[in-house]
Amino acid sequence: MNPLERIKSKIRTELGDKLPKKWKKVGDVLIADFDLIPSEDKKEIAEIYASELKVKTVIQKNKVNGELRKPENTQLLYGNDTITKISEYGLTYNIDLSEIMWSTGNTGWRSALSGPKKVKDFYSFGNPKTIIDYFAGIGYFALQMAKGYPESKVIAIDKNPKSIEYLNINAKENRIDNMEIINDDCRNILTKADVIHLGYIGNTVDFLEHAHRSLNTNGIAIFHEAYRNSWLGFKSRSDWIGIPDNFSELMNTKGFSVDKFERVKFYGPSTSHIIAILRKN
Ligand SMILES: C[S@@+](CC[C@H](N)C(=O)[O-])C[C@H]1O[C@@H](n2cnc3c(N)ncnc32)[C@H](O)[C@@H]1O
Repeated sequence: MNPLERIKSKIRTELGDKLPKKWKKVGDVLIADFDLIPSEDKKEIAEIYASELKVKTVIQKNKVNGELRKPENTQLLYGNDTITKISEYGLTYNIDLSEIMWSTGNTGWRSALSGPKKVKDFYSFGNPKTIIDYFAGIGYFALQMAKGYPESKVIAIDKNPKSIEYLNINAKENRIDNMEIINDDCRNILTKADVIHLGYIGNTVDFLEHAHRSLNTNGIAIFHEAYRNSWLGFKSRSDWIGIPDNFSELMNTKGFSVDKFERVKFYGPSTSHIIAILRKN
């Protein structure tokens, strides 16, 4: 029996089709949508999920909100400890899931030089002296870049003090000593860099002007964003056509040429989360 079948076997059959069939396991915390389950059954069912999936806490799936991407009113269904530890590509990340988001879909792309060849090629920039991560969070990308480029200085910035608290813990725990951590708006940082990482979705393009000013000649921006597949020129969901013209043209207006372009993941049926290497013109 698979885990869902085992869970179903322990729950009244009439609730069977209301059970969450998908979940995110982040460290030893489970996030799933129990909205269809009657309130009086939620706790008992969450406990069964916890025991079958071997987690200490179960959280109702919720939205992340606003600029700081904070999870909105966390609802605990089982357990009470929302702080967990994730191990990925030789690093550990501590995170409080009631305060900070964790994007499971970006696994692989967070690996920088420690992961699959496609990602390693993307994150190979020669010998950068300074790398800045504008939206560092708890260190999703910054820690791997600091590990992969031990001779470089990595400046990790985030506006959310809670993320910075965990970023400091994570840098220390992973014995990263080539990182400077700054709690501020990235646009207040005027340090020059050879590489700037923009791991943000929504209005990443608005930060390119500041990145362009801060990059040294021939500097590189690693750009994340989500775009409609139709705008990218993909006719079907899984279509791929190298570097889309619309994207190249847009980046040109921002003073960048596009060296590389890949899909990180699908966002629903019609949108793709993309990553691109932009070179300052
Ligand atoms: C989406 S999260 C990072 C997600 C991560 N890259 C991932 O893929 O899982 C974005 C982070 O950017 C931070 N942030 C948003 N606006 C910012 C700004 N203007 N300057 C610095 N940090 C900012 C938020 O606090 C948040 O931690």
